[in-house]
Amino acid sequence: MATWLTDEFVERVRSESDLVSVISTYVPLKRKGKQFWGCCPFHNEKTPSFAVTPDKGFFYCFGCHAGGDVFKFISMIESLSYREAIVFQAEKLNIPLPERQRTPEEIAREEKLKKLREAHELAGKFFHNCLTMTKYGTAGLEYFHHRGINDNIIEEFNLGFAPDAWDKLTTAFAKRGIDTELLLESGLVVKRQKGQGEYDRFRNRVMIPIMDERGRVCGFGGRVIDNGNPKYLNSPETILFNKRRLLFGLDKAHRAISQEGFALVVEGYMDVISVAAAGIKNVVASLGTAFTIDQCKKLLRYAPAIYFCYDSDNAGQEAIARAIGIAAGTSAIVKVVQLPDCKDPDEYIRKHGVEDFRKVVSQAVSVVEFRLRHVMAHSDVSGLEGRLKALSEMLPILATIKNAAERSAYVSKVAQLLSVSENDILVELGKKSRWSVNQPSSGRAVRSVVRQVDDAGRRAGRVIIRMVWDEPAILDHFISLVPMESVPDEIHKRILEALMEKYRAGEKISDIMGLAHLGDEAVEELSRAVVEDLGEEDRSILYEACVRQLRRNYLVSQYEVHSKNAEELYRQGDAKYLEELAASQKIKHEMDELQGVN
Ligand code: GTP
Ligand code: MN
Repeated sequence: MATWLTDEFVERVRSESDLVSVISTYVPLKRKGKQFWGCCPFHNEKTPSFAVTPDKGFFYCFGCHAGGDVFKFISMIESLSYREAIVFQAEKLNIPLPERQRTPEEIAREEKLKKLREAHELAGKFFHNCLTMTKYGTAGLEYFHHRGINDNIIEEFNLGFAPDAWDKLTTAFAKRGIDTELLLESGLVVKRQKGQGEYDRFRNRVMIPIMDERGRVCGFGGRVIDNGNPKYLNSPETILFNKRRLLFGLDKAHRAISQEGFALVVEGYMDVISVAAAGIKNVVASLGTAFTIDQCKKLLRYAPAIYFCYDSDNAGQEAIARAIGIAAGTSAIVKVVQLPDCKDPDEYIRKHGVEDFRKVVSQAVSVVEFRLRHVMAHSDVSGLEGRLKALSEMLPILATIKNAAERSAYVSKVAQLLSVSENDILVELGKKSRWSVNQPSSGRAVRSVVRQVDDAGRRAGRVIIRMVWDEPAILDHFISLVPMESVPDEIHKRILEALMEKYRAGEKISDIMGLAHLGDEAVEELSRAVVEDLGEEDRSILYEACVRQLRRNYLVSQYEVHSKNAEELYRQGDAKYLEELAASQKIKHEMDELQGVN
């Protein structure tokens, strides 16, 4: 995203965002005086160390040091960039995005997108009407009814039928004056190889419109109604139809995904339709291709967990193994639903009913469990050799388990499965301890609790930052006693220099946007400074104590400089050493005085 978010716009979104209510939708908060406290969503903890200070607009976790403003919080919890978080929040609040200068290419692209959308919308209606209102649709209706898909579901999913003819859509669209080039580009029609003209891509197929998460038709999947080939024909990839990003059913599922706390990902369109029709609404499918990281991130916007329920055949199980690999690069909590004795969710529901299906979903197993079972399924453990091979595949899986109790439970399980001793497994695990994977973290990934050195100098620096934030004019006084370059902490120095720049330019200081370029560490430290409780102490007494602390640091370094200079000059027989000595003595004197005050 380019830099077209104006400050004015960002400020409007910020001022209309209520930090406490935004955070409360993810974290239960309790009020304590001016602050709200809860358990940090960014690391594991049982006692709250996550503080929100609404009047300042900041949050800070004293455990893992995550901190920032409302947009930083959204970006972390929704796995978005800072700018995406601003847009995300603006859309939530129905604040229109600012107009901006667009390049001719962008204008052309948007125009094209608009036209493609209109064509797809119209095609959706065309197929639906063919199915429900014309004689061409009879075969399609029969097919759906035969599969247990009733008229309500047909309406809900806007299902359709492409007539058994070469040119029904082509002719209908030409009559409406829709541009042929556009139709070719959309993939709804195809150019004849011999001779002139075009013909319909989809013929004699039941049609499933594929919508984006906002319910706009982007493409179609068409299924044969007999045993023809290919079983499914999909729209080609266009600027509208991005198979790596879209998830079938997400427009109808996202609310339920948020409510249930997980998305159920299945393989087929028909699975989504069946499962949703049975009343389980948090279900989506990837589009016949492998599950992608983009799809994973999209789902994580709605819920932290993803349950894969793919076909029980080999291909399905292999696809789950790959999907798990994709999701491992994100913060997703992954589980696997396994269907005994049935090919896919659609078949399972028809055979056993929805209650039984719900039960199977509730028994979803962890990734570790799935992977161990996966190894067992393709291993021959009747002989010693096969058992050892299976063990060697299971050891890296066991090594990923961080929780000690969980790990030993699985160790004894594996020991039983392979008839080897638990002790031997533990010994092997010990040898391979460097196997424990470091999964790349992103977004909501749990942060480690890092212990930061927090000496008196650092604390004093933070208090100064806080006071400057509240009252920028004290900067002049502060730097008269503590020159900026002598601020001992590099991050504090960066923050103070940036604040100074804003103050000198007469800009509003308390806008973290202007400081985002300083990097995460600075944003976190600034948040901590602004959120931290300064206690009951009188502000001016606290300020003086902190300035004293930092000035003492400054004096110590100056004293060293001057006494070193004096020594050097003395050795060279330069009489100027006396000046340096006097300077160092003067500093020493002030240091002693400062000492006396404390
Ligand atoms: P039904 O037989 O209608 O129940 O199909 P299914 O949903 O069980 O489909 P299947 O498990 O065979 O395939 C899962 C998904 O893969 C489908 O929903 C399609 O998205 C995709 N797919 C299946 N067959 C084809 C094909 O021949 N071509 C393409 N492009 N995609 C296919
Ligand atoms: Mn099926």
